[in-house]
Amino acid sequence: MSKLLTGVNLTKEYPGGVTALKNVDVEIEKGEILVLLGPSGSGKTTLINLLGLLDKPTKGGVYLDGREITSLGERETCGIMNRTFGFIFQFFYLIPELTVVENVMLPLWIKEKSRLKLKAYYEEAESLLAEFTLVKKINSYPSQLSGGELQRVAICRSLICGPSVIFADEPTGSIDKKSSEIFYDIVGTLNEKREVTFIIGTHNDKFLQFATKVVYLNEGEVEKTEQIRVKELQ
Ligand SMILES: Nc1ncnc2c1ncn2[C@@H]1O[C@H](COP(=O)(O)OP(=O)(O)O)[C@@H](O)[C@H]1O
Ligand SMILES: [Mg+2]
Repeated sequence: MSKLLTGVNLTKEYPGGVTALKNVDVEIEKGEILVLLGPSGSGKTTLINLLGLLDKPTKGGVYLDGREITSLGERETCGIMNRTFGFIFQFFYLIPELTVVENVMLPLWIKEKSRLKLKAYYEEAESLLAEFTLVKKINSYPSQLSGGELQRVAICRSLICGPSVIFADEPTGSIDKKSSEIFYDIVGTLNEKREVTFIIGTHNDKFLQFATKVVYLNEGEVEKTEQIRVKELQ
């Protein structure tokens, strides 16, 4: 299997008898920008959670480079989530008691677990924040930042371990228009320059102009899949 990430026959039933996803198949190539488009309740978050290993399917499997990853133990699951995947959520989920730079360096510390390298982690986080014009905010707390700034901090945090896949669930759902436009630019740049693959769940059809592939979800099922352009890989 040459696909980077594949969901096969994914079904998710929540307690209480809600079938949030029914037999969903999805294939993502390296370097792709996959947009999951659908109205509220169509299963976008559920699908992102299954592909990103935040939740387990009732039926079906997720494959990373051809290897089934939904049935791995906790240690390996966390390893993939920390090293290979990055996450950007609608409400950012930054830790309020930590400064901006501490929030960004945290995944790197979790990955490498060395107290001796804290200074190096700090510098790494600082240089990423500088790239996203946040250098003046490194010692601020999340509560002191605007929505657009919080989102850029969340982007930095998702990038610090050098992920190959970034999952973004309603990434423009709680920021203004200007910040959304900055976000679109960032996705394009990261995709081009770092070959980051994106899986974006949204009801915002603005994302269609960036997508390489669109999966239309409706009531937990794939209504159609559209390959918009083929990503040229170097
Ligand atoms: N934890 C849960 N328990 C029960 N039902 C849920 C849960 N999470 C989501 N659902 C239901 O599953 C369906 C799909 O939800 P979701 O994946 O959040 O859709 P979307 O992200 O497209 O709005 C909805 O009907 C929703 O109410
Ligand atoms: Mg959702």
